[in-house]
Amino acid sequence: MADRWVKLELDVSAFDAARFEQYLERCRSGGIRFTTMSELGDTPRHRRALYELNKECSADIPDRGEFYTFEEYVEGRLAVPSYDPRGVVVALDGDVWCGLAMTSDHRASGFVFNEMTGVKAAYRGRGISLAMKTVGMGFAGLCGVDKVRTFHHPANTAAIQMNRRLGYVDMPGTGD
Ligand SMILES: CC(C)(COP(=O)(O)OP(=O)(O)OC[C@H]1O[C@@H](n2cnc3c(N)ncnc32)[C@H](O)[C@@H]1OP(=O)(O)O)[C@@H](O)C(=O)NCCC(=O)NCCS
Repeated sequence: MADRWVKLELDVSAFDAARFEQYLERCRSGGIRFTTMSELGDTPRHRRALYELNKECSADIPDRGEFYTFEEYVEGRLAVPSYDPRGVVVALDGDVWCGLAMTSDHRASGFVFNEMTGVKAAYRGRGISLAMKTVGMGFAGLCGVDKVRTFHHPANTAAIQMNRRLGYVDMPGTGD
């Protein structure tokens, strides 16, 4: 576990989605489709596909250690009040689940939280994470908040840089 998480926050009301539209267009013209667990159907089969993708991508998080079993994942991530299938963006290449961006509902505390963003290794570097997170930004509005937060291991340069590209900044009282 990290000694010191990098804690980032974005003010969604200041987010300029138009700046990132190019990533969506590029991904779509390359055959990638963006949808949500809500649109796909929050079914046992789709939950299993989400789990498998999350597990595969999480193997690249520094110090992540062993991933949950499917039962633990359902209990800890999906069978909790903060889970909302509308907050889970999925990127599909035909039948292949190639990316996920899961955001949970913490409206009582005034924010939504990016639980996990992951892209299969073979699909990285094409703007898929920027596109998924742009699509997923509307979830904050559905929850009636304008802040989105995320925590990262300090060695997870790709994830930290990806979020900074979107405009995330260090949460007040954190960072240098
Ligand atoms: C982090 C991750 C989701 C990025 O996905 P991706 O689709 O490859 O990212 P994108 O192509 O959208 O790149 C977005 C930006 O992130 C940054 N970035 C991506 N990969 C990077 C890398 N290896 N090193 C440094 N910056 C990187 C860049 O700023 C990039 O923008 P640019 O290409 O305009 O410079 C992917 O590397 C991943 O799945 N990692 C394993 C899982 C993980 O660590 N998730 C985060 C914890 S929740």
